[in-house]
Formats: sequence, C-alpha cells, structure tokens
Amino acid sequence: MKVLNVIGNQKLTGSIRISGAKNSSVALIPAALLADGVTTLCNVPDISDIDVLEQTLTYLKVDVKRASGSILIDTTNLTNIKIPKKLSNKLRASYYFMAVLLARFKHVEMYFPGGCQIGSRPIDQTLKAFKLLGATIKEEDCLFTIDAKELVGTTIELDMPSVGATINTILVSVLAKGKTTILNAACEPEITDLALMLKKMGAKIKGDGTSKITITGVSTLNGCNHDVIPDRIEAGTYTIIGALLGNYLKIDNIVPLHIKSLTDKLQEMGVNLEIYSDYLIIDSQNKLTATDIKTLQYPGFPTDLQQPFVTLLTQVKGVSHVEETIYENRFMNIPYLNKMGANIHINNQTLEILGPTKLKGSNVKATDLRAGASLLIAALIADGKTTITDIEHLLRGYEEIVEKLTNVGAKIEIKEI
Ligand code: EPU
Repeated sequence: MKVLNVIGNQKLTGSIRISGAKNSSVALIPAALLADGVTTLCNVPDISDIDVLEQTLTYLKVDVKRASGSILIDTTNLTNIKIPKKLSNKLRASYYFMAVLLARFKHVEMYFPGGCQIGSRPIDQTLKAFKLLGATIKEEDCLFTIDAKELVGTTIELDMPSVGATINTILVSVLAKGKTTILNAACEPEITDLALMLKKMGAKIKGDGTSKITITGVSTLNGCNHDVIPDRIEAGTYTIIGALLGNYLKIDNIVPLHIKSLTDKLQEMGVNLEIYSDYLIIDSQNKLTATDIKTLQYPGFPTDLQQPFVTLLTQVKGVSHVEETIYENRFMNIPYLNKMGANIHINNQTLEILGPTKLKGSNVKATDLRAGASLLIAALIADGKTTITDIEHLLRGYEEIVEKLTNVGAKIEIKEI
C-alpha cells in the first residue's frame, strides 16, 4: 500500500506549473473515437485516470501512443466491444464511451460508470438525452444496452446543468441527423474545450460556454491536433496552498478567468495575489477574514475546490460557513480535519468552521480525490508528521504532486508500506 508522508510547516517558494485538465482530457480522449483517423492531444496529464482510459482504448483495438504529455489516438481498427466492468467502474468519465460508441455504431453495451463516492451521481439526464435522440435503452444489473435505428437531432432540456450529460449529448449529436438544441446546458470550461476540439474535427457547434448549445450533425469527423486547457482545479488547489504557505509562490500556466470565483474570494479575505495573463503570484498572510462559500455550477464556486478551501478556512479568524449544493456526500474529509485539530461542525449540507485552529500531524485517509487534496493541504500546514493513506484517489487527479511540491520546498514523499 502506498502512503503519503508529509512534514508540515515549510514555507513554499518558486514556481508550480499547472498540468492539462483532467476533466477535459477524460472527455477529449473518448471524443477522439468519433473521428476517422488520427487525433493527437497535447498537455494531457500523466495521472492514473488517463492510464485507465488508455487501457480502455487498447481494449477497443484503438492504436494509442503516449509520450510525455501527448497522446496519439488512431481509430482505424476501432471495434465496438463491451468494456469490462473493471475498467468502466474505475471512473465516471467511462460513460463518455457510451456516447461515442452509440454515435458511431448505433449500438453500445456499457456498465454504470464509476468515480469518487461523493454522492448518488445518477446518469438519468444522459439516458434521457439518448432517448430523445432516438435510442432505446435496456438496463439489467447495471448493464445498459442501447440501440438506435437512427439518431435524430431534437431539443433537449436538462433538468440540471449536468457536466456529464451536456458532454454526452454533444458527443452523440455531432454525428446525429439534423439540429440538436441543449437547454440548461452546463457552461464549464471543459465543455468549451471539448467543443473547440470537435469543431477542429469538423463538427458544427454553437453556443458552448452558455446554457443553450446548438449542434448541427455531420456525417463524418476527421482527426485533429488539440492542446488541453490547464487544470483549473489543480490551479485552485495550489493557489489555496499558496495562500497558506506561499512566499512569493508562482502558479504558472493558468487561465485566470477559470479560477476567478476562487481568486475573488481569496482577495476578499485579504490574500495577497498578483494575477497576470497566464500565471499568478501568491503570498501567505497571517490575518485573513472568515468568509462563506456556496458551491455552484461554473462560473460559481466549484464543488471540486470546496474541500481544499475548507482547510484554508480552518486557519482564518472567525466563523466561516460552507454550503455544498452539488453533491450530498462531499464532507468525508471533515472527521479527519477535526482529528488534526480543526473545529468544524456538519449540519446537513452546510459546515460551520471556527478558526483559527492549530493543526497537528496525524494518520488520515483520502476517501476521495478532493478530500485527499484537503488533507494534503492540512498536512502541509500541520505541526509534525502526517501520513495519508488511500492516496490512489489523490493520484487520480494531480500530476507529479510530490515532485511539484518538493520543488518549491515541501517535505513530502510517497512510501510503500
Ligand atoms: N446529476 C443527476 N443526474 C444526472 C447527472 C447529474 O442528478 O444525470 C446530478 C449529480 O448527482 C450531481 C449534479 O447533478 O449532484 C452535478 O453532476 P454533473 O453531471 O455536473 O457532474 P459529473 O459530470 O458527474 C463532473 C466532474 C466532477 C465535478 C462535476 C461538477 C468529470 C469527470 N467530473 O462530474 O469532477 O465535480 O462535474 O463540476 O468531469 C472531480 O474532479 O473531483 C470531480 C468529481
């Protein structure tokens, strides 16, 4: 078993370069299967979620070549085979294969997707979109068999602006007949990134980045070259670390607009931030003021930064409140933060955080990806040594986390025990 050992309280100085976005890459890689031919993606993070997608591509007889940060995907021999449960239940994004295989073969068999256990995470909106586009769906023991004589564009209004359902609807409708309109679409930057790549492949998409997206289907798509956008959640995580421990710390390769909800909040709390076109510089401050956040869809405060941000709130003077509106089970880091010395009360979907509290090194468990990030930040500011177990969750989403933090002065190592 791998664990992460961290000796806390080291000031961090230098530069951290942000990798390509996990949640873009996990959509762009399946999307490449819509093309006849070769697609090359650059700036793809080297994380375990991408390893699983690579195995899935190989299983589907797609030729894959991975080199540092790039992935070449040749669909010449793509075959429509049922992806084994052990691959599809490793990550949520596996259901993007459901959409692309349906679009290309009008038939797909696929298990319910996996992903972090942060809520019930149903897929009803994706299935609703598939049905409205003309598919029939049978479900038995979490195995979905989806067929369509033809897929025909229509208007699809999502019950909530789901990222995954918006992506799946786009992936199917780019090759469907006629026009599809998605209403109440999600506006996350990863969706805009996907639309940009699909447009390079020959797709006709308008309105991405807004809540109304229109897609006019085409009969074929070709391969393309595409650079993945920087990971806004990784950028936000290191910015939070900088707010606590930064000594003129540079967070490089970012899109400032993508993390504006976070940087606005930090500035409101009194954090010293200098924001430039593609990087920011951050200095830690002793006196930060308590604040309240509520997680929302983009451009609101992202749920994926809620857990890392809670750790910061344990260090500010006064009472802060956090309301989680996207997932019902995203407070699993709290018992561990309290074990380390925090004073946090859970009340249904809200937290009350009393600060500042000194944190002490302890043994804690990364129950999910962003809970792991929250505990890592706690370990970095705690007195003494913290051991984090179950770090495979953390390694799903943060490329070279040990190297990046060590380079700026953190004392952190992965140990096999
Ligand atoms: N929802 C439904 N029905 C659906 C789809 C979603 O009820 O058919 C609900 C979900 O249960 C949730 C909410 O709607 O309560 C939002 O879900 P959404 O579909 O937007 O999320 P997702 O596509 O499953 C992606 C990211 C998550 C991120 C969310 C929200 C990927 C692979 N995952 O998930 O990332 O939290 O959007 O921004 O893109 C992470 O990186 O740690 C992570 C969990």
